[in-house]
Amino acid sequence: MFARLIGTGSCLPGKPVSNDDLAARGIDTNDEWIVTRTGIRSRYLAEAGMTSSELGLQAAQRALEMAGVGPEELDLIIVATSTPDFIFPSTACLIQGKLGNKGATAFDVQAVCAGFAYALGIAEKFIRSGSHSKALVIGAEVFSRILDWQDRGTCVLFGDGAGAVVLEASAKPGILATAMHADGSQSGILNVPGQICGGQVTGDPFLRMDGQSVFKFAVRVLSEIAEEVCTQAGIQTADVDWLIPHQANIRIIEATGKKLGIGRDKVIVTVDRHGNTSAASVPLALDEAVRDGRIQRGQRVLLEGVGGGFTWGAALLEF
Ligand code: UT7
Repeated sequence: MFARLIGTGSCLPGKPVSNDDLAARGIDTNDEWIVTRTGIRSRYLAEAGMTSSELGLQAAQRALEMAGVGPEELDLIIVATSTPDFIFPSTACLIQGKLGNKGATAFDVQAVCAGFAYALGIAEKFIRSGSHSKALVIGAEVFSRILDWQDRGTCVLFGDGAGAVVLEASAKPGILATAMHADGSQSGILNVPGQICGGQVTGDPFLRMDGQSVFKFAVRVLSEIAEEVCTQAGIQTADVDWLIPHQANIRIIEATGKKLGIGRDKVIVTVDRHGNTSAASVPLALDEAVRDGRIQRGQRVLLEGVGGGFTWGAALLEF
């Protein structure tokens, strides 16, 4: 029994915001710096009032439509997010309520930019165990809410959005291998070290990052985990038809592809237009490449994410 991907969907809020738009808003930056260092040209930023659950809902509805599955058929809903609408209830329960599903298992996964890979791996294990048969897995974020707009080293890097997939139990191949790892000793290099206490925010409520440490860590673990899932499945990384790495920086994506011997023409890239949407980046890129026809049935797709924690995860699937 496999967990087979039968639908994808995504949602981006509003209109693209270019690097020049950010400079025009008073951020001390310029298009040339951002493009050279990151490959990012634009991103989408949610209006006040737009939430992760709303973006996730729209992505989910598109994925369900492609799958031909009604919300009432779902027995598992997992949302990967670090920017939930509320402390509780979970964003998964909010989306479940908006979809009109009752009774499915629903919960959030907090593994930051590796969140979608974690959520997919967890859903796959539920399905393979036989306990669940139709899963909705969503990555949804409004990272713009946790950015310090005075910190040009981080605020230009991120964007908002959501992506979703529908999985079903199937005798036909689907997810072939998954892996998830973490190293909590690296929690200091990327974090939002604030909390709510006694009705006040204490600590720092904004995203903080040691960019160069994150960069080196990301290239290393994205290569290692890609090798790991390919070994599990008994294939070489060069046998992968499409690589969809976390979309944080084109230089990380290119360095990873090079280390794995996967040519640029086999790597899906959206970071130029979406920026880093954390847990949403991989399902957004996946949906784009499925809908524009690049990813075809029967092809092998390797998805991978890395983020705060530190966390990293991957899934190799036959589409
Ligand atoms: O989801 C995972 C999360 N994140 C990542 O994967 C990000 C990983 N890291 C990176 O992508 C890169 O480290 C960054 C893009 C964040 C930074 O690139 P860098 O080459 O490591 O630059 P830097 O931080 O060393 O900064 C170089 C210079 C500094 O100026 P000085 O001190 O050399 O005069 C910065 O102040 O660039 C300056 N700078 C900027 N200039 C214009 C930093 N941000 C900006 C900016 N516009 N937005």
